[in-house]
Amino acid sequence: MTLAERARRVIPGGVNSGQRSIPGLTDLVIARTAGSRFWDSEGREFTDYHAAFGPPLLGHNDPEVAAAVADASGRIGLTGVAVTEAEVVLAEQLAELIPSIEQVLLTSTGSEATFHALRVARAVTGRRLVVKFQGCYHGWHDAVSLNVISAPDRVGRPDPTSTGILPEVLDATLVLRFNDVAAVRQAFAEHGADIAAVIVEPIPHNVGALLPTEEFLRTLRAECTAAGSVLVFDEVITGFRHALGGYQAISGVTPDLTALGKAIANGAPIGALGGRADLMEQFSSRPGGPVFFAGTYNGHPLPVAAALATLRKLREQPVHEHVFRLGARVRSELAALYRRIGVPAVVTGYGSVFVSYFMPGPAPLSYDDLLANDTALFVGYRRRLIEHGVFELPLSLKRSHLSYAHTDADVDRLLEATEAAVTRTLAEGGPSDLVHVSTMGGAGAAAGASRC
Ligand SMILES: Cc1ncc(COP(=O)(O)O)c(C=O)c1O
Repeated sequence: MTLAERARRVIPGGVNSGQRSIPGLTDLVIARTAGSRFWDSEGREFTDYHAAFGPPLLGHNDPEVAAAVADASGRIGLTGVAVTEAEVVLAEQLAELIPSIEQVLLTSTGSEATFHALRVARAVTGRRLVVKFQGCYHGWHDAVSLNVISAPDRVGRPDPTSTGILPEVLDATLVLRFNDVAAVRQAFAEHGADIAAVIVEPIPHNVGALLPTEEFLRTLRAECTAAGSVLVFDEVITGFRHALGGYQAISGVTPDLTALGKAIANGAPIGALGGRADLMEQFSSRPGGPVFFAGTYNGHPLPVAAALATLRKLREQPVHEHVFRLGARVRSELAALYRRIGVPAVVTGYGSVFVSYFMPGPAPLSYDDLLANDTALFVGYRRRLIEHGVFELPLSLKRSHLSYAHTDADVDRLLEATEAAVTRTLAEGGPSDLVHVSTMGGAGAAAGASRC
């Protein structure tokens, strides 16, 4: 029996996240990682542009991060009482780097950070409603488990990603169109006094890359301020990857709270929630704080050591310069390639993130625009890339990432492999069964309505 078969006997679906069950790849077993590469259990080597949905900005098994974790693990374990010096130093650095952060709490995941952001927002405002945007993902908890990658007929109405969520919880989340300033103004005009929080990925990378207009982010800030609602930037992907200060440092729009994760520790499990001190002081980590906050592994010495080593390298070495240069090269050369072979495509992204949508321009502003993407070509060429040893996740709308470990030679191979894979997919066709199928599973799949 193969490892994948053994996995399916004892792990539902054979993987430990619904987002790792990829059609066509159910027999893949990962054996090893290093730098820009991973190897499977059959010894096949892949250049990794999926990058675990984003954490390893320095590349896999970065030697300095690995050494810091090894050193910490020989020195200090989890005690579950008080605080460690490393936690203090990390919090000081986050407060120094990220404009919105006056105080910060560590979690183990991004989902916990967004969960606590919404909980504290409801607590301080005494209000019920949360606003999110179609296409944004903020983790697995109930209040935000809706309207990520939706079927066309589910856009504009609640589209839960899971069964088992109380209808009143779903009812308390308003879903608006990203970049739609008029929709934001209207929601505040109608419900402002009941809106506890607006949560947004400043660049919705969970559907590739929708770049925000300046007016959109400024409108969110202005409406939240006017209504007394809490503005939450979910920078779990954009934080550290796009800038040490997050996308807020780039956009100049400062939220009240910021959720962090992923690239903060190059792949070690850690998240953070930070922001205005008057909000953060509501948490029960402060004696008398009314908003309960706990977690056995919060501030664990190993991921904290990984975060400190990651931040040190991001500050001391030209990591952003390298990945931004490679990203700009990938985007411009992919666009030129598609023009040359006559394939309508929009190549977009930001910094180290890139994605090719197979549709006519202009660049998409909201999820609705992405419904024009040719899913069969998108998934089909990525499946063929794997045959060339290049791994971009073969799921519609998923973004790809460059790291400090990727080289120009990697990009040369990516471009060659992309041309071959796209050309062959155009000639032979892509998988028709995945066209307009939700990749979030859950409620849509259960209701037989998973087509998007
Ligand atoms: C923008 C965003 N927020 C939150 C999360 C949830 O983070 P985690 O998977 O660490 O719980 C993710 C995960 O992909 C994410 O992309």
